[in-house]
Amino acid sequence: MRVVCIAAECEPWAKTGGLGDVVDALARAVGATGTAGPETGAAAVTGTRRPRVPQSQVWLGTGAVMGVGKGEAELPGHVEPPVDVFLPRYRGVVVPDRATSRPLAVPDPMAETCTTDVTLVEFEDRGYRVRLIDHPPAFDREGFYGDADGDYPDNGWRFGLLCRAAIEALLTDERPVDVLHLHDWQAMPAVVLRDCAYQAYPLISRAAVMVTIHNLAYQGWLTRDQAADMLFPDELKQALEPKSVGMLLLREGIERAELVNTVSPGYAQEILRPALGIGLDRALSLLGHRFGGILNGLDMGVWNPATDAALPERYSRVDTTGKAVCRGALLSELGFDPDDAGPVLGMIGRLDPQKGFDLLARAAPDLVADGARLVVLGSGDPKLIRALRALADEAPASVAVVDAFDRNLARRIYAGADLYLMPSRFEPCGQGQMISMRYGTPPIVHRTGGLADTVVDVDEHPTDGTGFVHNAETAKSLIEACRRAVDCYRRGGREWVALQDRGMAVDWSWEAGPAEQYAASYRRAVSLRRENRPIP
Ligand code: GLC
Repeated sequence: MRVVCIAAECEPWAKTGGLGDVVDALARAVGATGTAGPETGAAAVTGTRRPRVPQSQVWLGTGAVMGVGKGEAELPGHVEPPVDVFLPRYRGVVVPDRATSRPLAVPDPMAETCTTDVTLVEFEDRGYRVRLIDHPPAFDREGFYGDADGDYPDNGWRFGLLCRAAIEALLTDERPVDVLHLHDWQAMPAVVLRDCAYQAYPLISRAAVMVTIHNLAYQGWLTRDQAADMLFPDELKQALEPKSVGMLLLREGIERAELVNTVSPGYAQEILRPALGIGLDRALSLLGHRFGGILNGLDMGVWNPATDAALPERYSRVDTTGKAVCRGALLSELGFDPDDAGPVLGMIGRLDPQKGFDLLARAAPDLVADGARLVVLGSGDPKLIRALRALADEAPASVAVVDAFDRNLARRIYAGADLYLMPSRFEPCGQGQMISMRYGTPPIVHRTGGLADTVVDVDEHPTDGTGFVHNAETAKSLIEACRRAVDCYRRGGREWVALQDRGMAVDWSWEAGPAEQYAASYRRAVSLRRENRPIP
């Protein structure tokens, strides 16, 4: 199977959040399933690598793991490496010297001549092929999606151009595409184009589409005018009812794709209900067994305290002594007393209401009164930053707030903190909790989405717990869980060491499950495309 990913982010070229890490690791791991052969991975799917995590993959409707619908034959076939990853060439993307460039003429409804010349910049790296769409008017801007004034009003045109350029590049390859794997709303124009503009091009129209939703809160709404900047009049007529006021890109993806998944089984269940389904719960329910959750993996090479160059001292599950050195160095770096043995709680992320930084701000005075110290690293919402800064000004010896996006400081916090906080209101998968467990820093998380799927509360399950889970979306519930965590930390001893060790022992790797789950899903998507959608 020839697999092509389209996404708005991919680490290290373009990243604002977890999406970038996942697209990078997934493209590499899924490409490697082809060389290992499907059998190896299939065995891993039934492995027991995640204690007490109910099911790491669920296709809903059938309720069965790896459920296959009636009449869907599983096709043989493995992923042919390298997987392609199409990305915009944003400002500041550093391209290696060996990259090749070629011009590509792309149909463009906004261009006077109806065609825009873009440059396709290509190179192979990190186990997949990067294919950058270089068009400065669209992508050489301050932000990926917007600036201080909000989202760019021409995002429909920009990401429409990304997708159309990707398809045009694939046509010039003259090799059929088996699977288009589209991530989040920015890639959804590709499936609209497959169905409307490229129906007569079998290299594209035969491709099965798999849509992965990394966060349902971002859906890509275009007014009719904005959609008209992305599609030519005849395409727009095919894609939009005459009376509709605009186009919701994620809905288009959900309705047109062969398979749709989100990044954990728990979040998949949650978004079928109105509260977290945000208007798309019904469209998702209608998919039945064509919708499900596949828990993200973690790149165990990228995140490894035994090799992490950002740490002042490295450590591993076998010898954790370096963790204390990391702790002391972090506390000195932040201006805290490094000899104070009291608990240090870390939190990292986009300062977005989703992540629950406001709950932490409300809980902080109680936690500080209990003798805990807090380290917060994040950038985003200025109101949240002000609230957190005010706490740090009041108690500089107990609260540190770093308003930045700093990859290396993040690593030092994962390693140097005693406990890691993730009070997210909702969390499609979450990565911080997996990283913190791998770094021996037990997480405190809200029982939601991927957090509930990955963290086992140690008070509920003393022999296989890996962290602390709070049930309600309130400061009170968060404080209660932090107190349990802090007490456990203070008791120390074997109980604490065993808790750390169980978290460090979990194999979150893509190779141990998710990569083969995606490969198997690609086979299903291909078979659905062949059986259910007659090719013109
Ligand atoms: C989004 C989600 C996060 C998930 C990530 C990667 O950032 O908010 O929960 O881990 O995508 O899939």
